[in-house]
Amino acid sequence: MIAQVAALLAAYVIGSFPTAYLVGKANGVDLRTVGSGNLGATNVFRTLGWKWGLLVYIVDGLKGALPVLLLPGAIGVATGWPWGAAFGLLAILGHVRPVFLMGKGGGKGVATASGVFIALAPIPALCAIVGFAIAVAMTRYVSLGSLVGAVVLPVALLLQQREVTPLVLLSAAVGAFVFWTHRENIGRLRRGEERRVGSSSSSSA
Ligand code: G3P
Repeated sequence: MIAQVAALLAAYVIGSFPTAYLVGKANGVDLRTVGSGNLGATNVFRTLGWKWGLLVYIVDGLKGALPVLLLPGAIGVATGWPWGAAFGLLAILGHVRPVFLMGKGGGKGVATASGVFIALAPIPALCAIVGFAIAVAMTRYVSLGSLVGAVVLPVALLLQQREVTPLVLLSAAVGAFVFWTHRENIGRLRRGEERRVGSSSSSSA
């Protein structure tokens, strides 16, 4: 029981690791005050360039994948549902509401969720990443790509599993959560004010 609670806490703490914040600070920038203000790979990419953005995406993805893959073995339970999923969910929550920043900033959960689902359900996760990439390539809106990925994931999982499993429901809940974390982006998209990749300012052009 104690080991299980400790592992759940560990997943949350791992998810809380403030990658974008630390990368920003290392470059003399508080990313909460520039660009979208989000502590995620997209804002790092926008502010500091693609190499830092890629680094943050990889680390934030690992924050999701590693708890799913490693913590079940550490406490002697099976991987996958339900423990792997619980660890993944707590890692995503940690990324969005990191304990290290006292609730003053966090990401929107996409990179960490992609790591979680690459570990839990690789093929549906790959479908979501492809959907993300196509949407971004067509529109240059990363946020829209994230929303497309959030829809594709549960649909692809449902098609793969052929029934409404707990994992399908979890992916739908995470997708809905991603819509919630993107509520300001959705407002900007609707008003034509969202930033496009490669634009130095807000633009609908
Ligand atoms: O994953 C976050 C991305 O979808 C949007 O990031 O910085 O444009 O709000 P941002």
